[in-house]
Amino acid sequence: MNHKLFLGIETSCDETAIALIEASGGLKAPRFKIVQHELASQVKIHRPFGGVVPNLAKREHLKNLPILYRKIFGAEKKEIALWKKIDAVVVTIGPGLEPALWAGIEFAKTLAKNPPAGGKKPIIGVNHLEGHLYSFLLPILGRRTSIKIRTSDVHKCFPAIALIVSGGHTILLYVKSLKEWERLGETRDDAVGEAFDKVARLLGLPYPGGPELEKMARKGNPEAISFPRPMADSKDYDFSFSGLKTAVLYYLRDNPKARKTDVAASFQKAAIDVLVAKTIRATREFPTESVILSGGVAANKLLREELTKATRKENIRFLVSDAEYNTDNAVMIAAAGYFTMLRKSSQGGSASGGKKYKLSAQGNLDI
Ligand code: KG4
Ligand code: ZN
Repeated sequence: MNHKLFLGIETSCDETAIALIEASGGLKAPRFKIVQHELASQVKIHRPFGGVVPNLAKREHLKNLPILYRKIFGAEKKEIALWKKIDAVVVTIGPGLEPALWAGIEFAKTLAKNPPAGGKKPIIGVNHLEGHLYSFLLPILGRRTSIKIRTSDVHKCFPAIALIVSGGHTILLYVKSLKEWERLGETRDDAVGEAFDKVARLLGLPYPGGPELEKMARKGNPEAISFPRPMADSKDYDFSFSGLKTAVLYYLRDNPKARKTDVAASFQKAAIDVLVAKTIRATREFPTESVILSGGVAANKLLREELTKATRKENIRFLVSDAEYNTDNAVMIAAAGYFTMLRKSSQGGSASGGKKYKLSAQGNLDI
């Protein structure tokens, strides 16, 4: 099969990642094979600050990128052999933390302009959210297949509603096909993962608090406290989580003896109710074959269970990636590069992902 080899680079937040993947099959039946992927997490470095510090993230990316690169490319002979086969360098250009993004972009530019095997390689800048969007396709690659879709059936998953939930984003997309998607709504303040992290902190849990809060919530009663479900009934598809976080803050202040497990469980249920309600409402308004879930918060078991139940009721497919590809990684970025390239060639040059969604300011980079 005629495949292309992509080098993906991701540095938008606190994960430095590089991946080499083979892509083939086109927009109808895309297929990916991971040649190698490497990742360095900075969680421990940012933990004392209770969140990601942009300049610290940049410093760590600059330190980690050459190390990960060398793990993939090895010594000179292998390096040159691989570069002869690479078709393009793909890099996240936003949205993300600006200093962190630049670390990856500069690294990618240097490689593309002056690859060790000589010549020049094309460079493809991609939207980080598009990477998350396509991450559900990655388990099809054959290694761990938690989702059973045949490559040739991928196009049957669309149109889809995609919910991308992480520490930096909470966004709902209408995905007509692998070529075209648009934004339905997003958070007006905190991302849902950020709300999990902040509430976890109020409960005395370490950063990143999402997984810790989920563990604590397992021992609590989700009906114990009736926290607000912000914007659950609003007509649009936007979200708001900062009021919910404040409600937890006031509740803890007014009820110092409250059972923390109940607070965790009730907060978690409130946040997830809103996510599920809006996602399902979108599936009723737009023709939908499936719901796609991705981003770090997709690791949350309750969210997965509730979306599984709700989509089953609606008789639509539920697609979620394996945990490894839900959090930031460069495999999804390289995959997004493949789709960007295919779109460019099928639309005669326009690489925009979706009609209404615009890349961040970095999208205009001269690369
Ligand atoms: O996608 P990600 O690794 O990084 C970005 O923010 O882009 O997402 C990390 C976020 C953090 O806020 C973390 O607390 C949250 O995802 N998270 C969870 C769970 N696992 C990770 N939130 C709720 N429940 C979880 N099990
Ligand atoms: Zn992300």
